Parts: sequence; C-alpha cells; structure tokens
Amino acid sequence: MSVERLDLVRIRALRRLNGMGAEAELHECIDSTNTRARTLAKEGAPHGTLVLAESQTAGRGRFDRKFYSPPGSGVYLSLILRPDFGADRAALLTPLAAVATARAIEYAGGVEAKIKWVNDVYIGNKKACGILCEASLKPTGGVDYVIVGIGVNVGLMSFPEELREIATSVSNEAGRAVSANLLTARLLDEIEALLADAQSDLMCEYRTRSNVIGKRVTVLRGDERFEALAKDIDAQGSLIIRKDGGEEIALHSGEISIRFR
Ligand code: BTN
Repeated sequence: MSVERLDLVRIRALRRLNGMGAEAELHECIDSTNTRARTLAKEGAPHGTLVLAESQTAGRGRFDRKFYSPPGSGVYLSLILRPDFGADRAALLTPLAAVATARAIEYAGGVEAKIKWVNDVYIGNKKACGILCEASLKPTGGVDYVIVGIGVNVGLMSFPEELREIATSVSNEAGRAVSANLLTARLLDEIEALLADAQSDLMCEYRTRSNVIGKRVTVLRGDERFEALAKDIDAQGSLIIRKDGGEEIALHSGEISIRFR
C-alpha cells in the first residue's frame, strides 16, 4: 500500500504555525528537492521557502550517495533558511532537523524515534530518515542560506535487497498507514518552533535521543577506520569518542557505523 498523496492545502490546515512553507512548491517527481531549493535560493527565494516532492530521481545523501526516493512511499523536502547567525550556529541545523523529525515521527506514527549521529533518524535498529544540510557562505564569511533537506520513509514499503536490513519506514514500524500530510505538517511546525526558541536545550534532547552514546562504534574518517567508544555529544554537535588507546577526540563530521545487538 502506498503513502497518501501530499497536499499543500491539507498540510497547511494541519499546521499550528505558518512561517516555514509560507512559500511552497509541491512536485510529484523531481530530480532532488535540495538541488531545486538551491536554484530558488540563488534566485532570492525567502527564508522558509519549501520544496516538497513525492519522489526523486536523483535524491542525494551525504558523501555523494544516492537517497532511495521512489514514488508512493516517502516525504522528500527541502527548506531554504536564511539564518541571522554565523556558520558555527548553522552547524546545529542538522541536529535541529533531526530532533524535529524525531518528534514528528513520534507524533504522527506513535513509534519511538532515535538519532544516529549525525544526521539519521532511526526507528528501532533501522534508518527511517536521512538529513542533508548544505550551506552557502557570503563572500564576507557569513551564512547566505542553508538548504535543510529531509527524506522520511513514511508509507508501507518493501526495500531493495541491499537496504532491507538497514532501512525501514514509519508505517512499517507503526503497523498501520501513517499520514504523510500530518507528519509533514508536524515536521514544519517543529522546525519552526525550534528555530524560534533560542532558549531550547536542543542538544540535550539530541543527546537523549542518541542511539550511539555508550556504544562501540567504527569510525570512518577519510581513509582511516578504527574502533572506539562513543562517549558523548558536545554543545557544538561533535561526537566525543575514546579510542582504544585511551585518547579522547571530538569528531566534527565524518561517519560512524554501529552494530546493533
Ligand atoms: C543521507 O542519508 O545521507 C541524507 C539523505 C538526505 C535525503 C534528503 S531527501 C530530500 C532532500 N533532497 C535530496 O536530494 N536529499 C535530501
């Protein structure tokens, strides 16, 4: 069974806030919502502009990977943000999007959502969402815009062989058809609320939702690959790991893999 059709009027009716997505476009199929959002941003599209799609032919993930985005199964969206803060705080937009998505999944699907540092949202031991934030800096060094791209597997889905053990969807885990419009509406509300609340202890919730703190992980950094203990996530969103020799380091980016037992 496929996911319900996305509908901007319905999404707006389900919202509590109205800033994010005041300007919006909905595509049945697009190459990549991030690519489209970047074009719009370069043309001057305002803060909060939303590009939403029901499928993507060239959905992009981190490290130039493809993001599986077939029709009838997911919500693929990109928001153009023009933050009035610098690159340091802009780095926290990935954790912000992860917390917002986890909350929206729990609200619409009634299933617990966890975050795998740095940009994946998991239900149980499988990935249900990926996030790709792409920033463009002004020549003077400030942030011009950030594209926050989020792909959530929502409908009841059967995955190709290579993803079957590692990917899931909100409906698969909820055991019922979860509303894609409700999830999208809540996601936009949560992002808007978190952006507006400078006092919110975002990183505290990000840490609480982490499924890696306290676990053994394999760190993949360039050509390097080593085992370590994930100890904590700091206020800047860096993962603090302890190498087997005892040395502690902060990973600002990169990738970890974790074996769930
Ligand atoms: C990852 O898993 O590494 C991140 C995946 C991000 C996918 C989303 S789907 C909407 C937006 N458009 C894209 O091309 N990518 C992001």
